[in-house]
Amino acid sequence: MPGRAESRFPFTDYPKGWFQVAYSREVDNGGVLPLHYFGTRLVCYRGESGAAQVLDAYCPHLGADIAVGGTVSQDCVVCPFHGWKFDGEGRNVDIPYAKTVNRVARLRSWPTVERAGMIFVWHSSSGTAPEWELPKIPESEDTAFVFHAPETARWKFRSHPQEVFENTVDIAHFVTVHGVSAFGNLDLETGGPAEFRAVAEVSFETPRGPVSGSVESQLFGMGIDVVRHHGLGRSCTVLTVTPIDGEYVDARYTFFVLTEPETGEMTRMGLGFVRDFCKQIEQDIPIWENKVFRDRPQLARGESAITEFRTWAHQSYEQDSSKESTLASQ
Ligand code: FES
Ligand SMILES: [Fe+2]
Repeated sequence: MPGRAESRFPFTDYPKGWFQVAYSREVDNGGVLPLHYFGTRLVCYRGESGAAQVLDAYCPHLGADIAVGGTVSQDCVVCPFHGWKFDGEGRNVDIPYAKTVNRVARLRSWPTVERAGMIFVWHSSSGTAPEWELPKIPESEDTAFVFHAPETARWKFRSHPQEVFENTVDIAHFVTVHGVSAFGNLDLETGGPAEFRAVAEVSFETPRGPVSGSVESQLFGMGIDVVRHHGLGRSCTVLTVTPIDGEYVDARYTFFVLTEPETGEMTRMGLGFVRDFCKQIEQDIPIWENKVFRDRPQLARGESAITEFRTWAHQSYEQDSSKESTLASQ
């Protein structure tokens, strides 16, 4: 039996960055949604101004779970137990039976942004403010595409976001695990934590024979991968991976599918991409759930992209302060 994820990986369970916690459609105005990510019970709610907020869920008063029975009042959320009210910053702004608020009672407020129909929070274990902006997804505002995020395109499994995203540069597995016939060159560009682009030359199998093109993956920290196909028609697929606890992750595919201009229906090619992505992740999951992490892997010639990816990924981990002080004292 492999150990828990915290002993599986030589890096922390919860990297720093933006992570998807919900879809916009899950939280109506005035709605409250319970969440559990980063080993923490959270409440997401949407106030009257329309902005989604994410707070820690357990009330600082006597510990009720605000995500269960909590209600929304203007842009605040009200605890179901004694009616204390908290604003989007997590501050106590009303106690219905007291003349003054409790200034110490505070819920942690998570920086929250909605993008392309998804709700993201910024996670930093040291509490630092967001250090980079979430990417815009132009396809989400392009009428040629339709948003498609079926319930079936969501998976919970035992792994770590870094392991999932390492796939983007692991060219050899596309042949063995996914049965893709040929992969050519891999072109990598890396920079800051939100700058990683891998373009793989591929040959797409079509009824008319092979068509050469490319698959471009852009990673934004350890939570978001935006994948676009070139050569066979346009596509845009967002893979998000969010740690649930030290063991499981939640992975979701959001597709922006090209539509037929006359009917507005999803193109067959677009639906083919949807099917392929879902099939492929289901082929990957058993590998991810059961593998170990090789800190110093033996690689074949031409696999240096894996090392480059890991070096880039390292930026998403915060320094462990206990390790820092050990180093400093040496
Ligand atoms: S426990 Fe939340 S108001 Fe009392
Ligand atoms: Fe894969």
